[in-house]
Amino acid sequence: MSDPRILILGAPGAGKGTQSKRLCEAYDIEHVTTGDALRANKHMETEYGTPAEYMDAGDLVPDPLVNEIVVAALEEADGFVLDGYPRNESQVEFLADATDLDVVLYLDVSEEELVDRLTGRRVCPECGASYHVEFNPPAEAGVCDECGADLVQRDDDTEETVRDRLETYRENTEEVIDHYRGTDAFVEIDGEQTPDEVWADVKAAVDSRAE
Ligand code: AP5
Repeated sequence: MSDPRILILGAPGAGKGTQSKRLCEAYDIEHVTTGDALRANKHMETEYGTPAEYMDAGDLVPDPLVNEIVVAALEEADGFVLDGYPRNESQVEFLADATDLDVVLYLDVSEEELVDRLTGRRVCPECGASYHVEFNPPAEAGVCDECGADLVQRDDDTEETVRDRLETYRENTEEVIDHYRGTDAFVEIDGEQTPDEVWADVKAAVDSRAE
């Protein structure tokens, strides 16, 4: 199998980051995530203002800024899992010009479950590992299992911002899912199962489509 080119779709909190990490390890591919790239440059001054102004309000960052990040990352990768992009029709068109896709995974999760997952998420500021206070707690409360750093809550994982993010998602990204639904590459997965069960479905989908 050549290195798979995977797009992973789903609402905020659907488990895209969790499954992307496993995909990268299993297939030795790059994780291209607009969320992480924007967080790393959150306070960068651009002609559109800083990414932080949009992210902390739960809004989308302007397309030209995000498109530039994605194209630069895809040019460097053979196989990849693209996470957090495209989020609207204009980004769909931009991506279609930039690359082909072997598999489009859509993780389906209900809204109340999404709020619980995001408000309970804790992340490691040093190595990026992600936990949940209830569903996936670290061995010692508040401390990263992988590197021992203190865990933090993401600025946009407060309940108010989470609700705004979910509304932005409904307004913009559902049309993205409709765009890919019905294409040969599209696979819908029940994202409310345990992480291991979701992973079994994800791996089976990639193995069958990316031959
Ligand atoms: P981004 O970082 O992409 O955030 P998001 O899409 O809101 O997704 P998350 O990372 O929050 O969720 P996830 O699906 O990865 O869930 P995870 O695996 O961590 O974007 C942030 C912001 O950047 C946006 O709001 C926007 O402003 C901007 N931005 C990004 N891309 C952009 C673009 N293309 N255009 C414009 N602006 C853009 O899981 C969540 C929690 O649930 C974890 O605690 C985890 O442990 C737990 N969990 C995971 N799976 C399960 C399971 N199966 N069962 C139980 N718990 C689980």
